[in-house]
Amino acid sequence: MVTNKNVQQQQQQHRVDVLVPAMVVAAMATPSSPAVKLLRCAIPLALGIAVAVYLVGSATPAVVQSGYLERLFPLPPAAASPSAMGRQKQAPELEQTSAATNSAPSWPVDDGASGGNRTQRAGKVEAAAAGGFVDISDEELMKLAARVAPREAAGAPKVAFLFLTRWDLPMAPLWEKFFEGHRGLYSVYVHTDPAFNGSDPGEASAFHRRTIPSKEVKWGQISMVEAERRLLAHAILDHSNARFVLLSESHVPLFDFPTVYSYLVNSSKVYVESYDLPGATGRGRYKRAMGPLVTVAQWRKGSQWFEMDRRVAGDVVADDVYFPVFRRFCRRNCYADEHYLPTLLSIRHPSRVANRSVTWVDWSHGGPHPARFTRMEVTPDFLRWLRTGAATCDYNGGTTTVCFLFARKFLPNSLTRFLRFAPKVMGFG
Ligand SMILES: *[C@@H]1O[C@H](CO)[C@@H](O)[C@H](O)[C@H]1NC(C)=O
Ligand SMILES: *[C@@H]1O[C@H](CO)[C@@H](O)[C@H](O)[C@H]1NC(C)=O
Ligand SMILES: *[C@@H]1O[C@H](CO)[C@@H](O)[C@H](O)[C@H]1NC(C)=O
Ligand SMILES: *[C@@H]1O[C@H](CO)[C@@H](O)[C@H](O)[C@H]1NC(C)=O
Repeated sequence: MVTNKNVQQQQQQHRVDVLVPAMVVAAMATPSSPAVKLLRCAIPLALGIAVAVYLVGSATPAVVQSGYLERLFPLPPAAASPSAMGRQKQAPELEQTSAATNSAPSWPVDDGASGGNRTQRAGKVEAAAAGGFVDISDEELMKLAARVAPREAAGAPKVAFLFLTRWDLPMAPLWEKFFEGHRGLYSVYVHTDPAFNGSDPGEASAFHRRTIPSKEVKWGQISMVEAERRLLAHAILDHSNARFVLLSESHVPLFDFPTVYSYLVNSSKVYVESYDLPGATGRGRYKRAMGPLVTVAQWRKGSQWFEMDRRVAGDVVADDVYFPVFRRFCRRNCYADEHYLPTLLSIRHPSRVANRSVTWVDWSHGGPHPARFTRMEVTPDFLRWLRTGAATCDYNGGTTTVCFLFARKFLPNSLTRFLRFAPKVMGFG
Protein backbone atom coordinates (compact mmCIF):
# COMPACT_ATOMS: atom_id res chain seq x y z
CA MET A 1 0.00 0.00 0.00
CA VAL A 2 3.06 2.26 -0.09
CA THR A 3 3.94 4.07 -3.28
CA ASN A 4 7.44 4.10 -4.64
CA LYS A 5 7.76 7.73 -3.79
CA ASN A 6 6.85 7.06 -0.23
CA VAL A 7 9.35 4.26 -0.01
CA GLN A 8 12.04 6.59 -1.23
CA GLN A 9 11.00 9.22 1.24
CA GLN A 10 11.09 6.67 4.01
CA GLN A 11 14.55 5.54 3.06
CA GLN A 12 15.62 9.13 2.93
CA GLN A 13 14.15 9.75 6.31
CA HIS A 14 15.87 6.75 7.81
CA ARG A 15 19.14 7.83 6.38
CA VAL A 16 18.50 11.13 8.10
CA ASP A 17 17.63 9.30 11.24
CA VAL A 18 21.06 7.74 11.33
CA LEU A 19 22.96 10.97 10.90
CA VAL A 20 20.80 13.87 11.94
CA PRO A 21 17.87 12.85 14.09
CA ALA A 22 17.01 16.42 15.02
CA MET A 23 16.53 17.30 11.40
CA VAL A 24 14.24 14.42 10.66
CA VAL A 25 11.90 15.61 13.36
CA ALA A 26 11.77 19.00 11.72
CA ALA A 27 11.40 17.41 8.30
CA MET A 28 8.49 15.25 9.36
CA ALA A 29 6.76 18.17 10.98
CA THR A 30 6.82 20.23 7.77
CA PRO A 31 6.78 17.72 4.93
CA SER A 32 6.68 20.23 2.08
CA SER A 33 9.02 22.93 3.31
CA PRO A 34 11.94 24.02 1.13
CA ALA A 35 14.26 22.92 3.92
CA VAL A 36 13.12 19.35 3.39
CA LYS A 37 13.89 19.54 -0.32
CA LEU A 38 17.31 20.85 0.53
CA LEU A 39 17.83 18.04 2.99
CA ARG A 40 16.82 15.44 0.44
CA CYS A 41 19.69 16.55 -1.74
CA ALA A 42 22.15 17.40 0.96
CA ILE A 43 21.87 14.36 3.16
CA PRO A 44 22.74 11.60 0.69
CA LEU A 45 25.62 13.74 -0.48
CA ALA A 46 26.87 14.34 3.02
CA LEU A 47 26.51 10.66 3.80
CA GLY A 48 28.49 9.88 0.69
CA ILE A 49 31.26 12.20 1.75
CA ALA A 50 31.21 10.90 5.30
CA VAL A 51 31.41 7.33 4.12
CA ALA A 52 34.09 8.10 1.59
CA VAL A 53 36.10 9.87 4.25
CA TYR A 54 35.69 6.88 6.50
CA LEU A 55 36.44 4.29 3.86
CA VAL A 56 39.67 5.87 2.72
CA GLY A 57 40.68 6.37 6.32
CA SER A 58 41.55 10.04 5.95
CA ALA A 59 39.15 11.43 8.51
CA THR A 60 40.19 14.70 10.06
CA PRO A 61 39.84 15.41 13.76
CA ALA A 62 36.76 17.40 14.65
CA VAL A 63 35.48 19.12 17.71
CA VAL A 64 34.12 16.68 20.24
CA GLN A 65 31.24 18.29 21.99
CA SER A 66 31.64 17.86 25.68
CA GLY A 67 28.88 15.44 26.65
CA TYR A 68 25.84 16.94 28.21
CA LEU A 69 25.12 13.57 29.77
CA GLU A 70 28.51 13.56 31.37
CA ARG A 71 27.80 16.95 32.79
CA LEU A 72 24.58 15.62 34.27
CA PHE A 73 26.16 12.46 35.56
CA PRO A 74 29.76 12.90 36.62
CA LEU A 75 32.07 10.28 35.23
CA PRO A 76 33.98 7.86 37.38
CA PRO A 77 37.65 8.76 37.82
CA ALA A 78 39.54 8.63 34.54
CA ALA A 79 41.62 5.81 35.95
CA ALA A 80 38.55 3.57 35.83
CA SER A 81 39.04 2.87 32.15
CA PRO A 82 42.33 4.20 30.86
CA SER A 83 42.33 1.93 27.83
CA ALA A 84 38.92 3.14 26.74
CA MET A 85 40.01 6.76 26.97
CA GLY A 86 43.19 6.07 25.06
CA ARG A 87 41.25 4.27 22.39
CA GLN A 88 38.86 7.13 21.91
CA LYS A 89 41.68 9.58 21.55
CA GLN A 90 43.37 7.55 18.87
CA ALA A 91 40.24 7.11 16.81
CA PRO A 92 39.95 9.73 14.11
CA GLU A 93 36.57 11.41 14.09
CA LEU A 94 34.08 11.40 11.30
CA GLU A 95 34.24 14.82 9.74
CA GLN A 96 30.62 15.38 8.95
CA THR A 97 28.78 14.16 11.94
CA SER A 98 28.81 17.03 14.37
CA ALA A 99 28.11 19.58 11.65
CA ALA A 100 25.27 17.39 10.50
CA THR A 101 23.62 17.52 13.88
CA ASN A 102 23.82 21.24 14.26
CA SER A 103 23.98 23.10 10.97
CA ALA A 104 22.67 21.12 8.05
CA PRO A 105 21.87 23.96 5.65
CA SER A 106 25.54 24.84 5.28
CA TRP A 107 26.17 21.66 3.29
CA PRO A 108 26.86 21.98 -0.40
CA VAL A 109 23.98 20.78 -2.54
CA ASP A 110 25.77 20.27 -5.86
CA ASP A 111 26.57 16.71 -6.76
CA GLY A 112 30.13 16.68 -5.65
CA ALA A 113 32.27 18.53 -8.17
CA SER A 114 34.86 18.41 -5.42
CA GLY A 115 36.23 15.26 -6.92
CA GLY A 116 35.35 11.67 -7.51
CA ASN A 117 32.23 9.88 -8.57
CA ARG A 118 29.37 10.40 -6.22
CA THR A 119 28.00 6.93 -6.89
CA GLN A 120 31.34 5.43 -6.02
CA ARG A 121 31.76 7.52 -2.91
CA ALA A 122 28.41 6.69 -1.45
CA GLY A 123 28.84 3.25 -2.94
CA LYS A 124 28.76 0.36 -0.63
CA VAL A 125 26.72 1.87 2.13
CA GLU A 126 24.07 3.72 0.19
CA ALA A 127 23.46 1.03 -2.38
CA ALA A 128 23.19 -1.76 0.14
CA ALA A 129 21.20 0.20 2.70
CA ALA A 130 18.24 -1.83 3.87
CA GLY A 131 15.63 0.31 5.52
CA GLY A 132 18.16 3.11 5.84
CA PHE A 133 20.73 1.09 7.79
CA VAL A 134 24.30 0.81 6.63
CA ASP A 135 25.10 -2.67 5.38
CA ILE A 136 28.82 -3.13 5.79
CA SER A 137 30.97 -5.84 7.34
CA ASP A 138 30.85 -6.21 11.11
CA GLU A 139 34.44 -5.09 11.33
CA GLU A 140 33.78 -1.86 9.44
CA LEU A 141 30.57 -1.32 11.37
CA MET A 142 32.34 -1.61 14.74
CA LYS A 143 35.05 0.82 13.63
CA LEU A 144 32.48 3.30 12.38
CA ALA A 145 30.44 3.05 15.60
CA ALA A 146 33.55 3.34 17.76
CA ARG A 147 34.40 6.61 16.04
CA VAL A 148 30.89 8.00 16.34
CA ALA A 149 30.34 6.86 19.95
CA PRO A 150 31.94 9.89 21.68
CA ARG A 151 29.48 12.17 19.86
CA GLU A 152 26.32 13.06 21.68
CA ALA A 153 23.50 15.05 20.17
CA ALA A 154 22.16 18.10 21.95
CA GLY A 155 18.54 17.91 23.03
CA ALA A 156 16.53 15.14 24.60
CA PRO A 157 18.47 11.89 24.89
CA LYS A 158 16.79 8.78 23.44
CA VAL A 159 16.63 5.25 24.76
CA ALA A 160 17.47 2.65 22.11
CA PHE A 161 15.41 -0.54 22.41
CA LEU A 162 17.40 -3.36 20.82
CA PHE A 163 15.27 -6.38 20.00
CA LEU A 164 17.30 -9.55 19.46
CA THR A 165 14.74 -11.98 18.08
CA ARG A 166 14.79 -15.36 16.42
CA TRP A 167 11.83 -14.67 14.20
CA ASP A 168 8.88 -12.30 14.64
CA LEU A 169 7.86 -10.16 17.62
CA PRO A 170 4.61 -11.56 19.01
CA MET A 171 4.54 -8.94 21.77
CA ALA A 172 4.75 -6.05 19.28
CA PRO A 173 1.16 -4.85 19.95
CA LEU A 174 2.05 -4.36 23.63
CA TRP A 175 5.25 -2.51 22.75
CA GLU A 176 3.29 -0.29 20.32
CA LYS A 177 1.10 0.78 23.24
CA PHE A 178 4.18 1.30 25.37
CA PHE A 179 5.84 3.58 22.78
CA GLU A 180 2.66 5.43 21.82
CA GLY A 181 2.94 9.19 22.26
CA HIS A 182 6.67 9.20 23.01
CA ARG A 183 8.18 9.63 19.56
CA GLY A 184 11.52 11.35 19.71
CA LEU A 185 12.47 9.80 23.06
CA TYR A 186 13.11 6.28 21.84
CA SER A 187 14.46 4.40 18.88
CA VAL A 188 13.95 0.78 17.93
CA TYR A 189 16.35 -1.69 16.34
CA VAL A 190 15.45 -5.28 15.49
CA HIS A 191 17.87 -8.12 14.73
CA THR A 192 16.10 -11.19 13.42
CA ASP A 193 16.95 -14.34 11.53
CA PRO A 194 18.03 -13.27 8.04
CA ALA A 195 15.50 -15.75 6.64
CA PHE A 196 12.66 -13.92 8.39
CA ASN A 197 9.98 -13.30 5.77
CA GLY A 198 7.36 -11.35 7.72
CA SER A 199 6.07 -8.15 6.18
CA ASP A 200 6.84 -4.67 7.48
CA PRO A 201 4.24 -3.52 10.03
CA GLY A 202 3.54 -0.24 8.23
CA GLU A 203 4.38 3.40 8.77
CA ALA A 204 2.36 3.92 11.92
CA SER A 205 4.33 1.23 13.76
CA ALA A 206 7.32 1.81 16.03
CA PHE A 207 8.86 -1.18 14.22
CA HIS A 208 8.40 0.22 10.71
CA ARG A 209 11.65 -0.45 8.79
CA ARG A 210 13.63 -0.92 12.00
CA THR A 211 15.19 -4.30 11.16
CA ILE A 212 18.94 -3.99 10.80
CA PRO A 213 21.00 -6.12 8.41
CA SER A 214 21.12 -9.35 10.41
CA LYS A 215 23.03 -12.60 10.46
CA GLU A 216 22.23 -16.06 11.73
CA VAL A 217 22.43 -16.50 15.51
CA LYS A 218 23.00 -19.83 17.25
CA TRP A 219 22.00 -20.25 20.87
CA GLY A 220 24.93 -20.13 23.29
CA GLN A 221 27.46 -19.30 20.58
CA ILE A 222 29.57 -16.27 19.79
CA SER A 223 27.17 -15.34 16.98
CA MET A 224 24.80 -14.23 19.75
CA VAL A 225 27.36 -11.69 21.02
CA GLU A 226 28.07 -10.62 17.45
CA ALA A 227 24.38 -9.85 16.99
CA GLU A 228 24.35 -7.85 20.24
CA ARG A 229 27.31 -5.79 19.11
CA ARG A 230 25.70 -5.31 15.70
CA LEU A 231 22.58 -3.90 17.37
CA LEU A 232 24.65 -1.64 19.61
CA ALA A 233 26.73 -0.37 16.71
CA HIS A 234 23.73 0.58 14.58
CA ALA A 235 22.13 2.33 17.53
CA ILE A 236 25.32 4.25 18.36
CA LEU A 237 25.29 5.78 14.86
CA ASP A 238 22.29 7.83 16.01
CA HIS A 239 23.93 10.46 18.21
CA SER A 240 20.83 11.05 20.27
CA ASN A 241 20.75 7.49 21.60
CA ALA A 242 22.07 7.75 25.15
CA ARG A 243 20.97 4.44 26.68
CA PHE A 244 20.79 1.01 25.09
CA VAL A 245 18.68 -1.88 26.32
CA LEU A 246 18.70 -5.41 24.91
CA LEU A 247 15.35 -7.22 24.68
CA SER A 248 13.99 -10.43 23.19
CA GLU A 249 10.73 -11.44 21.55
CA SER A 250 9.52 -12.81 24.87
CA HIS A 251 10.18 -9.59 26.81
CA VAL A 252 7.43 -7.36 28.16
CA PRO A 253 7.69 -3.90 29.74
CA LEU A 254 6.57 -3.70 33.38
CA PHE A 255 6.18 0.09 33.61
CA ASP A 256 4.98 2.87 31.33
CA PHE A 257 7.39 4.61 29.02
CA PRO A 258 8.02 7.76 31.14
CA THR A 259 9.01 5.61 34.14
CA VAL A 260 11.37 3.42 32.12
CA TYR A 261 12.80 6.45 30.34
CA SER A 262 13.64 8.49 33.41
CA TYR A 263 14.91 5.45 35.32
CA LEU A 264 17.46 4.76 32.59
CA VAL A 265 18.34 8.25 31.39
CA ASN A 266 18.84 9.41 34.97
CA SER A 267 20.86 6.43 36.15
CA SER A 268 24.44 6.73 37.32
CA LYS A 269 25.03 3.01 36.63
CA VAL A 270 24.70 0.62 33.74
CA TYR A 271 22.61 -2.50 34.30
CA VAL A 272 24.69 -5.50 33.44
CA GLU A 273 24.60 -8.54 35.69
CA SER A 274 28.12 -9.61 36.57
CA TYR A 275 29.15 -12.08 39.25
CA ASP A 276 31.81 -14.61 40.05
CA LEU A 277 30.47 -18.15 40.30
CA PRO A 278 32.63 -21.08 41.40
CA GLY A 279 31.62 -24.40 39.86
CA ALA A 280 30.90 -25.93 36.48
CA THR A 281 28.49 -23.31 35.09
CA GLY A 282 30.64 -20.37 36.21
CA ARG A 283 34.41 -20.57 36.46
CA GLY A 284 34.15 -24.05 34.93
CA ARG A 285 33.48 -22.43 31.57
CA TYR A 286 36.69 -20.39 31.67
CA LYS A 287 39.28 -21.51 29.12
CA ARG A 288 42.93 -21.36 30.13
CA ALA A 289 43.87 -20.30 26.63
CA MET A 290 42.20 -16.96 27.34
CA GLY A 291 44.99 -16.06 29.72
CA PRO A 292 46.90 -13.99 30.44
CA LEU A 293 44.58 -11.39 28.90
CA VAL A 294 41.55 -12.76 30.73
CA THR A 295 42.34 -14.55 33.98
CA VAL A 296 40.04 -16.85 35.90
CA ALA A 297 39.90 -14.21 38.64
CA GLN A 298 38.48 -11.75 36.12
CA TRP A 299 36.00 -14.25 34.65
CA ARG A 300 32.39 -13.22 35.30
CA LYS A 301 28.97 -14.58 34.54
CA GLY A 302 25.64 -12.81 34.06
CA SER A 303 22.46 -12.48 32.09
CA GLN A 304 22.89 -11.36 28.49
CA TRP A 305 20.03 -8.83 28.85
CA PHE A 306 22.09 -5.70 29.28
CA GLU A 307 21.35 -2.03 29.64
CA MET A 308 24.18 0.44 29.15
CA ASP A 309 24.97 4.06 28.44
CA ARG A 310 26.67 5.54 25.42
CA ARG A 311 30.15 5.55 26.89
CA VAL A 312 30.11 1.89 27.90
CA ALA A 313 28.39 0.90 24.63
CA GLY A 314 31.12 2.74 22.74
CA ASP A 315 33.72 0.75 24.63
CA VAL A 316 31.96 -2.51 23.73
CA VAL A 317 31.92 -1.82 19.98
CA ALA A 318 35.50 -0.53 20.13
CA ASP A 319 36.74 -3.64 21.92
CA ASP A 320 39.28 -5.29 19.66
CA VAL A 321 41.23 -6.76 22.54
CA TYR A 322 38.90 -9.01 24.55
CA PHE A 323 36.31 -9.84 21.93
CA PRO A 324 38.76 -11.62 19.61
CA VAL A 325 39.90 -13.71 22.59
CA PHE A 326 36.32 -14.71 23.36
CA ARG A 327 35.61 -15.43 19.71
CA ARG A 328 38.66 -17.62 19.45
CA PHE A 329 38.55 -19.51 22.73
CA CYS A 330 35.05 -19.24 24.22
CA ARG A 331 33.51 -21.97 22.10
CA ARG A 332 32.42 -25.40 23.31
CA ASN A 333 30.37 -25.25 26.53
CA CYS A 334 31.44 -21.67 27.07
CA TYR A 335 28.29 -19.61 26.29
CA ALA A 336 29.98 -16.35 25.37
CA ASP A 337 26.72 -14.40 25.68
CA GLU A 338 26.70 -15.10 29.43
CA HIS A 339 30.34 -14.17 29.99
CA TYR A 340 31.66 -11.65 27.48
CA LEU A 341 29.93 -8.49 28.71
CA PRO A 342 29.96 -9.40 32.43
CA THR A 343 33.72 -10.04 32.17
CA LEU A 344 34.56 -7.09 29.90
CA LEU A 345 32.63 -4.58 31.97
CA SER A 346 33.97 -5.81 35.30
CA ILE A 347 37.49 -5.32 33.90
CA ARG A 348 36.86 -2.01 32.14
CA HIS A 349 34.10 -0.30 34.11
CA PRO A 350 33.90 -1.91 37.57
CA SER A 351 32.60 1.26 39.19
CA ARG A 352 29.87 1.79 36.60
CA VAL A 353 28.29 -1.67 36.60
CA ALA A 354 25.28 -2.19 38.87
CA ASN A 355 25.92 -5.96 38.68
CA ARG A 356 22.21 -6.52 38.18
CA SER A 357 19.91 -6.74 35.18
CA VAL A 358 16.74 -4.67 34.70
CA THR A 359 15.15 -7.75 33.10
CA TRP A 360 13.42 -10.21 35.43
CA VAL A 361 13.75 -13.91 34.60
CA ASP A 362 12.84 -16.98 36.58
CA TRP A 363 15.73 -19.42 36.96
CA SER A 364 14.28 -20.97 40.10
CA HIS A 365 13.59 -24.36 38.57
CA GLY A 366 17.19 -24.81 37.36
CA GLY A 367 18.32 -26.11 33.97
CA PRO A 368 19.75 -24.33 30.95
CA HIS A 369 16.65 -22.24 30.15
CA PRO A 370 14.59 -19.92 32.35
CA ALA A 371 10.89 -20.57 32.98
CA ARG A 372 8.37 -19.68 30.29
CA PHE A 373 5.07 -18.19 31.35
CA THR A 374 1.81 -18.93 29.65
CA ARG A 375 -1.43 -17.04 29.42
CA MET A 376 -3.10 -18.08 32.67
CA GLU A 377 -0.02 -17.30 34.75
CA VAL A 378 -0.26 -13.62 33.81
CA THR A 379 -2.43 -12.02 36.49
CA PRO A 380 -2.59 -8.48 37.90
CA ASP A 381 -1.11 -9.75 41.18
CA PHE A 382 1.79 -11.40 39.40
CA LEU A 383 2.46 -8.19 37.45
CA ARG A 384 2.31 -6.09 40.63
CA TRP A 385 4.75 -8.47 42.29
CA LEU A 386 7.15 -8.24 39.32
CA ARG A 387 6.98 -4.44 39.43
CA THR A 388 7.75 -3.84 43.07
CA GLY A 389 7.65 -7.08 45.03
CA ALA A 390 10.33 -9.29 43.55
CA ALA A 391 13.42 -7.59 44.98
CA THR A 392 15.00 -4.59 46.60
CA CYS A 393 18.04 -3.02 45.03
CA ASP A 394 20.20 0.07 44.85
CA TYR A 395 19.32 2.93 42.52
CA ASN A 396 21.52 6.04 42.38
CA GLY A 397 22.67 5.45 45.94
CA GLY A 398 19.25 4.78 47.47
CA THR A 399 17.25 1.62 48.10
CA THR A 400 14.24 0.88 45.89
CA THR A 401 11.80 -1.90 45.11
CA VAL A 402 11.74 -0.90 41.44
CA CYS A 403 14.48 -3.22 40.23
CA PHE A 404 13.02 -4.73 37.06
CA LEU A 405 11.71 -2.62 34.19
CA PHE A 406 11.16 -5.62 31.91
CA ALA A 407 10.42 -9.32 32.30
CA ARG A 408 10.66 -12.51 30.26
CA LYS A 409 9.88 -15.18 29.06
CA PHE A 410 6.27 -14.81 28.10
CA LEU A 411 4.66 -16.98 25.46
CA PRO A 412 2.78 -15.33 22.59
CA ASN A 413 -0.56 -16.54 23.94
CA SER A 414 -0.15 -14.24 26.98
CA LEU A 415 -0.31 -11.11 24.82
CA THR A 416 -4.04 -10.52 25.20
CA ARG A 417 -3.71 -10.71 28.99
CA PHE A 418 -0.98 -8.09 28.97
CA LEU A 419 -3.03 -5.84 26.72
CA ARG A 420 -5.94 -6.22 29.10
CA PHE A 421 -4.05 -5.57 32.34
CA ALA A 422 -1.60 -2.94 31.10
CA PRO A 423 -3.90 0.11 31.58
CA LYS A 424 -4.84 -0.85 35.12
CA VAL A 425 -1.58 -2.29 36.43
CA MET A 426 1.15 -0.73 34.31
CA GLY A 427 -0.35 2.64 33.43
CA PHE A 428 -0.38 2.47 29.63
CA GLY A 429 -2.44 1.05 26.78
C1 LIG B 1 30.54 6.14 -11.10
O1 LIG B 1 31.15 4.89 -10.78
C2 LIG B 1 30.28 3.80 -10.97
C3 LIG B 1 31.00 2.57 -10.44
O2 LIG B 1 32.33 2.51 -10.84
C4 LIG B 1 29.92 3.69 -12.45
O3 LIG B 1 29.07 2.60 -12.66
C5 LIG B 1 29.24 4.96 -12.88
O4 LIG B 1 28.96 4.94 -14.26
C6 LIG B 1 30.07 6.18 -12.55
N1 LIG B 1 29.28 7.39 -12.78
C7 LIG B 1 29.76 8.48 -13.36
C8 LIG B 1 28.83 9.63 -13.49
O5 LIG B 1 30.91 8.53 -13.76
C1 LIG C 1 7.85 -17.73 5.90
O1 LIG C 1 8.74 -18.78 6.28
C2 LIG C 1 8.13 -19.79 7.04
C3 LIG C 1 9.20 -20.73 7.54
O2 LIG C 1 10.19 -20.94 6.59
C4 LIG C 1 7.05 -20.49 6.21
O3 LIG C 1 6.44 -21.50 6.95
C5 LIG C 1 6.03 -19.44 5.78
O4 LIG C 1 5.08 -20.03 4.90
C6 LIG C 1 6.69 -18.27 5.09
N1 LIG C 1 5.69 -17.22 4.89
C7 LIG C 1 5.61 -16.47 3.79
C8 LIG C 1 4.56 -15.43 3.78
O5 LIG C 1 6.37 -16.64 2.84
C1 LIG D 1 16.26 12.97 36.94
O1 LIG D 1 16.18 13.14 38.33
C2 LIG D 1 15.98 14.48 38.75
C3 LIG D 1 16.01 14.57 40.26
O2 LIG D 1 16.26 13.34 40.86
C4 LIG D 1 14.67 15.00 38.21
O3 LIG D 1 14.47 16.32 38.56
C5 LIG D 1 14.68 14.86 36.68
O4 LIG D 1 13.44 15.22 36.16
C6 LIG D 1 15.01 13.45 36.27
N1 LIG D 1 15.17 13.39 34.84
C7 LIG D 1 14.44 12.59 34.08
C8 LIG D 1 14.74 12.58 32.60
O5 LIG D 1 13.58 11.87 34.53
C1 LIG E 1 30.14 -4.97 40.88
O1 LIG E 1 31.14 -5.93 40.87
C2 LIG E 1 32.46 -5.42 40.78
C3 LIG E 1 33.41 -6.59 40.69
O2 LIG E 1 33.23 -7.30 39.50
C4 LIG E 1 32.75 -4.54 41.97
O3 LIG E 1 34.03 -3.97 41.83
C5 LIG E 1 31.71 -3.45 42.04
O4 LIG E 1 31.90 -2.70 43.22
C6 LIG E 1 30.31 -4.02 42.04
N1 LIG E 1 29.35 -2.94 41.96
C7 LIG E 1 28.34 -2.80 42.79
C8 LIG E 1 27.43 -1.65 42.58
O5 LIG E 1 28.15 -3.58 43.71
